[in-house]
Parts: sequence; C-alpha cells; structure tokens
Amino acid sequence: MRTQVGIVGAGPAGLVLAHLLHRQGIDSVVLERQSREHVERRVRAGVLEHGTVDLLTEVGLADRLLRERMVHHGLELLFEGEAYRIPLRELSGQDITIYGQHELVKDLIAARIATGEPLLFAVDDVVLAGLDGVTPTISFTEDGARRELHCDIVAGCDGFHGISRDHVPDGAATYYEREYPFAWLGILAQARPSSEELIYAYHDRGFALHSMRSPEITRLYLQVRPDEPLAEWPDERIWSELRSRLARRAGGWTLSDGPILEKGITAMRSFVMDPMRYGRLFLAGDAAHIVPPTGAKGLNLAVADVLVLAGALDAWFRSGNSALLDAYSQTCLRRVWRVQHFSWWMTSMLHRAADADPFTHQLQLSQLRYVTSSRAAATSLAENYVGLPLPGRG
Ligand code: FAD
Ligand code: PHB
Repeated sequence: MRTQVGIVGAGPAGLVLAHLLHRQGIDSVVLERQSREHVERRVRAGVLEHGTVDLLTEVGLADRLLRERMVHHGLELLFEGEAYRIPLRELSGQDITIYGQHELVKDLIAARIATGEPLLFAVDDVVLAGLDGVTPTISFTEDGARRELHCDIVAGCDGFHGISRDHVPDGAATYYEREYPFAWLGILAQARPSSEELIYAYHDRGFALHSMRSPEITRLYLQVRPDEPLAEWPDERIWSELRSRLARRAGGWTLSDGPILEKGITAMRSFVMDPMRYGRLFLAGDAAHIVPPTGAKGLNLAVADVLVLAGALDAWFRSGNSALLDAYSQTCLRRVWRVQHFSWWMTSMLHRAADADPFTHQLQLSQLRYVTSSRAAATSLAENYVGLPLPGRG
C-alpha cells in the first residue's frame, strides 16, 4: 500500500486532518486501533470554540452539529455559595458551542467514509520506520495479517497514549510536563440540565462542574483523588457530593438527577513536546500536548494543529516549498502555550488540593473575586475561553 499521508489515529485530529487533505486533493490512509463502535461511544469533550465550529462549517463537516448543538453566551463561576455570570458574548463578541465529541467523531467518520478513502479500524501493533528518510513506512496488523503502508509523511494523531511519540529518539525533543494532585470523575446522566449554562464551582470539598449534552442529558464532573477507585463512588455518593459542591447559599437551586449512563475517571496533566516533529513524522493534538480539561481546550487545540498541518502539506505537495512545514511546530506551539497557561490558570483557580495551605486558598478566592468583579479580568477569561483566532485567521 502507498499513500501521501499516513495518519495514525481516528480521533478529532486524525479525522479532521484526513478531511482537510482530501479537500486539497492529497491522499491519506487513516489507521485506528479501536473499533468504530468504540470510538463513536467514547464520551469526552463537550465545548467547541467558535473558531472550531467556523472551520468545521466551512469544510462541510457541521451540518448535524449546527442543527443539534447548544449555543451558550455565558458561563457561571460559583464560590462561597454565590454564583457569578461571565457574559462571554458581551465581553468577547463570541459564543461557545456544546456538542459531544463522540457525536462529532460520528460525523467525521461518516464524512470520511463518504469520500471512499481508506479508514481502517481495529488495526494492531502499529510500528513506524524510516522517519528520518524520505519514504517512511507504517506497518500494522489487520485481520491477523501484517501489512505495510509507504508514505511521504506520517501524521501522529494517536492521542496521549499512542505510539507515534515513542518513535522520536531520545534527545530529539524536549518534554515539558506537570501532573496535578487530582483527577475528574465524570458522569453522563439522563437528567435535564439544572442551569442553562455551564457552572464551574470552587468548593471546600473540591471542584465541581455542571455541563450538558442536550436538553435531556447532563454532564457533571467532580474533583477526586488521582488514585480514586471508581468502585468507591456509587451513584448516590456522586449525587450527594455534587449537590453539596454546587449548592447556593441563597437556596432556590436544585440539581436534577436521573439514571447515570456513563462514569469514568480522568487524570489531569499538562504536557508539551517541542518540536512536534521528527523528520517526516508530524505530531498533532493530544499526541503532542495535553491540557487539563478545566479550560475545555484539548479538542479545539487538536483542530488548530491539523489546520496548520494541512496548509503546510498543501504548499509542500504542490510546490515542494517546505517553509510552512518547517515552521509547523513553532506555529502550533505559540497557541499551545497560550492554551497551556489558560488551562493551568483555570485549574489552579478552581481546584482544592488535599494538602492546600490556607494562603493558597485565600489567593484562589481573591482571584475568583477579581475575575467576577473586574470587567478587564472577566474579559481576559472570556477571550481565552471562547478561543483566540485560529492560526492564519485574524
Ligand atoms: P484522541 O481523541 O485521543 O484520538 C486518538 C486516537 O488514536 C484514538 O481514537 C485512539 O484510539 C487512537 N490510537 C491510539 N493509539 C493508537 C495506535 N497505536 N494505533 C492506532 N490508533 C491509535 N477538549 C475540548 O476541547 N473541550 C472540552 O470540553 C474537553 N473536555 C474533556 C473532558 C474530558 C473528561 C476529557 C478526558 C477530555 C476533554 N477534552 C476536551 C480533551 C479532548 O477530548 C482531547 O483533547 C481530544 O480527544 C484530542 O483529540 P486527538 O484526536 O488528538 O486524540
Ligand atoms: C464537558 O461538557 O464535557 C466539559 C465542559 C467544560 C470543561 C470540560 C468538559 O471545561
């Protein structure tokens, strides 16, 4: 088998890249380790920046998204039992979109299949070779048989736990990392959202987040210990903890509950690889960087990376000009570090470490009071939250 771009991973990064390349007349093959059912059911992100939605719309990937999404003009910060609204639209001129990542992935898979180009699920033992030469290969097992794909370029879009990054030799990249002393327990519940907008809560017992997927489905998160066994969280304990952390001093607000459809624990970390490239291997999305989910940025950042990569590959395949490809990592990393800072800042402001000292707690409260009382501070939050302009677009 031969293709121009071999793409490892059919998450948002790999599938959006495949689509952009197809529109540019560049062939690709997408290789995914999991089954189609698995990736279409994996519940993850929910918040899309306006720039992500605009891009998906322009390239014909947003028909269902635009019909089914929920548009939010603001969000709430809740602390000391009081809720404060950050009017995103008023402050930044932009809104955010709520649309489940797995719904987007379903749309992206359908769009790929409609092009008739290859998207292989359930491939095993993916191994990259020849990355420092001009004809890299990807070998993998499909239905028990070993196959080899010859490419001009390999795109490592296989997420944080993928194999692409492992093919970068020691010393060829610098890794920046921070782990946090907490994790998120997330649930999806058959319950009407209890508020029209997202609520980010800072509480003595830890962070909580109220989000949603549709008028009938609520998405909720609780800060837990990183090593917390899910078995210690029966449904009743989750609801009771959510009720405590999301309570308002004035009363008059209740959390609607319902059957829990899905439950999971996610570790939180910040991670950046620099450069996001080794020879003919280009990394994009979570394969190259991870942000803690408090800023709702990971998927959006993955889309921003592949927009840059697709543009650079277009120039290179068309004219042999490698300037944009050579600048790929630097172009992406500017946005990555802005988003890293925002995600770290939101995380530090809203979480309560088990061993947090009273000084830190007072700093967090002070920051929350500032951001909810100063228009300048709230505007900064809003501008970052709705998303800075995509590279090359304003
Ligand atoms: P992934 O989605 O991880 O896709 C990688 C793909 O590669 C997967 O399908 C995987 O199966 C496949 N793969 C892995 N290894 C191999 C291999 N060896 N061979 C072949 N295929 C392989 N982001 C936001 O923007 N907004 C949010 O609101 C938000 N909320 C989040 C909430 C939670 C609880 C979590 C966990 C994440 C959240 N994120 C959010 C982050 C977002 O989900 C990720 O940043 C996004 O999935 C990154 O996309 P990706 O395509 O780079 O990687
Ligand atoms: C979600 O709806 O899953 C969600 C919302 C906001 C975040 C993270 C996740 O910051």
